[in-house]
Amino acid sequence: MDGNGRWAKHRHRPRAFGHRAGVQAVRKVIEACIRAKVEVLTLFAFSSENWSRPEGEVRHLMDLFLRALRKEARELAGNGVRLRFIGERSRFSPELRAAMAESESAALDVVRLTVNIAVNYGGRWDIVNAAQALARAALAGQIDPDAIDQASFEQHLSLAPLPEPDLFIRTGGEARISNFLLWHLAYTELYFTPVLWPDFDETAFLAALTEFARRERRFGKTSDQVSSKPEAAHV
Ligand code: IPE
Ligand code: MG
Repeated sequence: MDGNGRWAKHRHRPRAFGHRAGVQAVRKVIEACIRAKVEVLTLFAFSSENWSRPEGEVRHLMDLFLRALRKEARELAGNGVRLRFIGERSRFSPELRAAMAESESAALDVVRLTVNIAVNYGGRWDIVNAAQALARAALAGQIDPDAIDQASFEQHLSLAPLPEPDLFIRTGGEARISNFLLWHLAYTELYFTPVLWPDFDETAFLAALTEFARRERRFGKTSDQVSSKPEAAHV
């Protein structure tokens, strides 16, 4: 979710104004995902590098985050939206950590959409974290280091047990991954749009889904192998 600051600047307003508009865009995209029957949405809300922004902006983002959680969590749960947080939480205030834990533990009758919110998240951190967990288990004699494979490694990453994303969308015009889900993006379709995050509405989201549907996902195979023609399906 990139471009809140520029969106505000174009309107001669403070960056905080853009972040508030960004929260409304999150709401709209969650609704659009439900309508489009997307099952998992992962939002990069705050990276481990975002702490180096001016202190006032970081404070505002934390405040906004807490207020949005308190305001929206119950309604989201009522609409079948399960919230999860990925990232290193120890740096957040006790209030924020409590609000995160509370919204994650909400009991849902039916789950229509899982929303992962990445906060103080970094893809490299995630990988190192998984390596540490496996190293500890090996040291304790619980696992054999030679038995570690991609599947077992993945189970220790913070997105587990959810599948890797099919589509990655970055708004705001930069063509970078910026330390998002590094491991998981290996075969994800990447989509970059100049639309600034507060302007990213259902129409913009559906344009991304349409582009995704046009892509041919080969996973290393040839085009003939993956084409949907019946004679090729057995290759
Ligand atoms: C993304 O918008 C919001 C967060 C990272 C929290 P930016 O704040 O990065 O907006 P620009 O890039 O300055 O326009
Ligand atoms: Mg930015």
